[in-house]
Amino acid sequence: MTWAKADPHHVPPEIDTTQPSVARVYDAILGGKDNFAVDRAVAAEAVAAMGDRGNGARLNRAALGRAVRYMVLQGVDQFLDLGSGLPTVQNTHQIAQTINPGARVVYVDNDPTVYLHGKALLADDASTTVVLADIRTPDALLAAAEVSGFLDFGKPVGLILNAVIHHVLDEEDPYGIVTSYKEALAPGSYMQLTHFCDESPEARANAEVLRRSLGRGQVRSREEIMRFFDGLDLVQPGLVYLDAWQPDTLPNESEPGSTLMLCGVARKP
Ligand SMILES: C[S@@+](CC[C@H](N)C(=O)[O-])C[C@H]1O[C@@H](n2cnc3c(N)ncnc32)[C@H](O)[C@@H]1O
Repeated sequence: MTWAKADPHHVPPEIDTTQPSVARVYDAILGGKDNFAVDRAVAAEAVAAMGDRGNGARLNRAALGRAVRYMVLQGVDQFLDLGSGLPTVQNTHQIAQTINPGARVVYVDNDPTVYLHGKALLADDASTTVVLADIRTPDALLAAAEVSGFLDFGKPVGLILNAVIHHVLDEEDPYGIVTSYKEALAPGSYMQLTHFCDESPEARANAEVLRRSLGRGQVRSREEIMRFFDGLDLVQPGLVYLDAWQPDTLPNESEPGSTLMLCGVARKP
């Protein structure tokens, strides 16, 4: 773990290094540095279950990039990225601001590691902010001044749910939560979602690892994932495997990790 501080070994007291965290495990799978031994142990187990050498996580990041680029090209210039994760390469604000330098982004995550890193990284960026909050309480999150004062919900917003809703368990009302966010969006807004799909044994095995090690990992069927888009119009090519969503190159279903998750983008009419 590295911190942009005088002492590189200093770990802020908010960070619990004895328990693995979703954000840090994902960072470890992506080959990042912002993780501890407990996270790397779960990451190794998850990668073994998925049998993809972390390729699914990289495909997931790439799908996020293409979806953000698509939304900016449709005229969306503000984004709410829920469960944004630790900063890595090609984050939402970097992709959006490459095309539209005026784009605004609010990152939300409930992991203090993400918040502290994001704050440090974005200190000089007036168009992007990071909020420490739990996405399972949408009314409080949407009412928070850091969100409602930063984004104009009277205009289209790009709602990003990249690999986060499979960390919301069935008993936590994931459909009600996503509906609250959809209701807050103005017509012309877009929602992007990637989600572990139960079609592959590797995804099911990974969900078991996440559930056991982190307490949260919920694989869902294609129909169940499709329900998150209710009331919205899916854009082409619909709900598909990660690298089949508006690919830059020919998708390859035999590539490791390519069938772990589904991706969809939809427009609010
Ligand atoms: C698998 S990572 C995905 C990160 C990023 N969206 C991506 O796709 O590259 C899931 C992220 O969601 C966050 N997360 C999980 N449950 C959350 C919750 N209830 N509220 C806020 N963030 C949450 C985790 O801390 C983690 O950073």
